[in-house]
Amino acid sequence: MTTRRFPNDFLWGTATASFQVEGAADADGRGPSIWDTFCRKPGAVRNADNGDIACDHYHRVDEDLDLVKGLGVGSYRFSVAWPRIQPTGKGPANQPGLDFYRRLVDGLQARDVEATITLYHWDLPQALQDDGGWVVRDTAERFAEYADIVARAIGDGAARWITLNEPWCSAWRGYEVGDHAPGITDVGQAAAAHHHLLLAHGLATEVLRDATPEVPVGIALNLAALRPGTDDPLDVAATLRMDGNRNRIFLDPLFRGEYPVDMLEHYAGREPGFSVVRDGDLAIISQPLDFLGVNYYSPEIIVDATRRQAAREFGYTVPTRPESHDLAAVGVLSPGAQVTQMNWEIDASGLRELLGRTSREYTDIPLYVTENGAAYDDYVGPTGEVRDGNRTEYLRAHLGAVLDAIEDGVNVVGFFEWSLLDNFEWAFGYSRRFGLVWVDFPTGTRLPKQSYDWYAETIKANAL
Ligand code: FCB
Repeated sequence: MTTRRFPNDFLWGTATASFQVEGAADADGRGPSIWDTFCRKPGAVRNADNGDIACDHYHRVDEDLDLVKGLGVGSYRFSVAWPRIQPTGKGPANQPGLDFYRRLVDGLQARDVEATITLYHWDLPQALQDDGGWVVRDTAERFAEYADIVARAIGDGAARWITLNEPWCSAWRGYEVGDHAPGITDVGQAAAAHHHLLLAHGLATEVLRDATPEVPVGIALNLAALRPGTDDPLDVAATLRMDGNRNRIFLDPLFRGEYPVDMLEHYAGREPGFSVVRDGDLAIISQPLDFLGVNYYSPEIIVDATRRQAAREFGYTVPTRPESHDLAAVGVLSPGAQVTQMNWEIDASGLRELLGRTSREYTDIPLYVTENGAAYDDYVGPTGEVRDGNRTEYLRAHLGAVLDAIEDGVNVVGFFEWSLLDNFEWAFGYSRRFGLVWVDFPTGTRLPKQSYDWYAETIKANAL
């Protein structure tokens, strides 16, 4: 087998998010977030799991930073919990909350690992939700204030800022599909939330540039590698609608300063929807970024909602994901698809495709893969090890796709594996393990899996 090398300055990383790992829900003045509330809604989260304790990362941060260090990564991506900084989403900073993140960035610096800091990974202060959440413009303005507080407090320890993680999930899963917090099912609200999230990103970008001019700013999007299930015009049209809602509705405003016309037409009349857009907003949203983060797990194969039976006849498994009823599009699994424990189809070529398309059609700024990884039904075997060769294979294939993209001429400069630790996987609770490190949830004990060693060796070799 020939060795394939990564560029010398390729940035290796691993990632977590505050709500998924921290626990310590009431510690040091933290306020409740929309996910604390959502977890208590009957049936919302598998096994009625919640984030009260999670991986107890809040109390085990030094141990976890040693695990980060042990991988040999250049950077650790984590998120700041807004409700630790401003328990009600507004007003003065809660100093103990800032102290925790100071400890984190100092701990990284001491270990010579860069901090890639996400400001919003879905844990909106509940008090802001009570005032309308992302459906109201005020939340975007509050976010900019919060960003300013964080930047001034720990910006000296930041290597790069990510304003928002996967705003598609915040807006469309949170407000249309309803399987994520705040669990609303209203398309008009989802569209307004979408705009206000992008506005929040733009306002925060200005604030961050002002507070920490030397720190690069970007956003992490879960762009979708979409493929029509068949060449039937209905499936092709459904795929184009999904492309509008998953990709162009972000990339067009961010890089071209406009919303795609087909999407504006589609959502017209859904109140409040895009009627919340004000003059000047798109200029704020489209100011130049320093990098773009792309989160990728799986390609998505789409058929029109009227063609479920036809899709079955083609051998597809139907349906596989929460779907957008509004777009009348259904995600299906290919005949004989290999899937992860999430039931997500494994096909690394989607990552190469996505990176290539983004750079060809939208931007030549550096791209980071800000998330990629796999959930499997891991267990600690009789020898005391977690033998997760499936995860290693998944990562090997996707890192190969990154190399393919680089060979295609795409400016991919780094890769953050999701995730360092097994953690709270949102609506799946603790039933899905994505970690390089096994977490025994009853005791909090950490145990690096075989994939941890494999990733460390790959990083060291800087090659596959
Ligand atoms: C992404 C989220 C991340 C994690 C992975 C599996 O959508 O950003 O928090 O849950 O999926």
